[in-house]
Amino acid sequence: MTKQTWSQRFETALHPAITLFNASIGFDIELIEYDITGSIAHAKMLGKTGIISIAEASTLVQGLEQIRQEYREGKFQPGVEAEDVHFAVEKRLTELVGDAGKKLHTARSRNDQVGTDTRLYLKDQIQQIQALLRGFQQVLLDLAAANVETLIPGYTHLQRAQPISLAHHLLAYFEMLQRDWERLGDVLKRVDISPLGCGALAGTTFPIDRHYSAELLGFGDVYRNSLDGVSDRDFAIEFTAAASLIMVHLSRLAEEVTLWSAQEFSFVTLKDSCATGSSIMPQKKNPDVPELVRGKTGRVFGHLQGLLVLMKGLPLAYNKDLQEDKEALFDTVKTIKVCVEAMTILLAEGLEFQPERLHEAVNEDFSNATDVADYLAAKGVPFREAYNLVGKVVKTSITAGKLLKDLTLPEWQELHPAFESDIYAAIAPQQVVAARNSYGGTGFVRVRESITAAQERINQVI
Ligand code: ARG
Repeated sequence: MTKQTWSQRFETALHPAITLFNASIGFDIELIEYDITGSIAHAKMLGKTGIISIAEASTLVQGLEQIRQEYREGKFQPGVEAEDVHFAVEKRLTELVGDAGKKLHTARSRNDQVGTDTRLYLKDQIQQIQALLRGFQQVLLDLAAANVETLIPGYTHLQRAQPISLAHHLLAYFEMLQRDWERLGDVLKRVDISPLGCGALAGTTFPIDRHYSAELLGFGDVYRNSLDGVSDRDFAIEFTAAASLIMVHLSRLAEEVTLWSAQEFSFVTLKDSCATGSSIMPQKKNPDVPELVRGKTGRVFGHLQGLLVLMKGLPLAYNKDLQEDKEALFDTVKTIKVCVEAMTILLAEGLEFQPERLHEAVNEDFSNATDVADYLAAKGVPFREAYNLVGKVVKTSITAGKLLKDLTLPEWQELHPAFESDIYAAIAPQQVVAARNSYGGTGFVRVRESITAAQERINQVI
């Protein structure tokens, strides 16, 4: 039976199984550096406001820095008897600096403390994830710049629709990641609020200065209501929602790469550095990286759902249920980071697009049919009429085993007298793509403009 940190009110020790059940040290040790940083700011605030002496405050700060050092050197490894990271640090502090250590917890509670730690952690992590997203965007941009005139079939309903520039396809993901990056920045505004000094739930009787400790910690604002401050986890849910959208985007790209690498498509081959083999089928090269990313998406969605359910129906203010927010948050952060990293490596050096196969793919089908209709429409034939005519010629061509480019000029002219010999140039895939120069379209001129603009966007705000 272990002796607890709580008051003398308790006569007998906690049941060993309940000690384990109750403890969060196994996972909230992740917060230790943020806990120390938060405690340092709190100690300085206590000193500045005269709640403790300046000498005591600096003793606390020194002791806390020593714990940070011990932790970094692997010398401080608190066990389950500490219950959680907050008790662990406070206990060690008292061991190190004596009675002054017992003053650290004046005018605060673990409730505002854990909220502070979690927000400091998440602020840090969000900025790291944003930097990873930027790295991924740069890889997509570089790949796009090298493939403006590489054509790839564009699909709707997973049926070949119209050929597009491969760069245009990649830039679609750039845009998704740009929204993700911005969304994280928006979430950050609501993570950037300090609950420190909200106390257990109702504030404190001491003349604290919440704005001062918030400023020391780099928070942009402080919670205006102490009950809300200790029980709000909106920021965690918002972050997990933003993370879920990142995973949606990664997973869509992962799915495309997986399809492209299938023999049926063969648009890309996977380089050995990013592919794995089978234990039984020697010919196989498996796209484990994108598959794992696709698979890990589920756990992030699960954490979002878990946090929403965790919060619903919780009465104000702090409830122990809130301890359950951490593993969801930590795993979300970890998963997002490894997935963005893996996809960045995959796109940067794990894929080889197959130009011959792509060329074949955009030349062997009817994905230029819209362009025949556009050709006639540009010559004054009403679009719907042109559309119907082309539908007819597609049907007869399929029966005859021909492509549109194989039709002779008399055959075209029989269909409609407006056809002239320039129809061949108009339906060549390169021209089909080049001609789609509407704003946001796949035309090469537009794509080049997009690449320049995208590069400027990510250079601007880092
Ligand atoms: N380990 C706790 C958590 O993560 C710290 C806060 C405990 N507060 C309390 N009143 N028991 O939520």
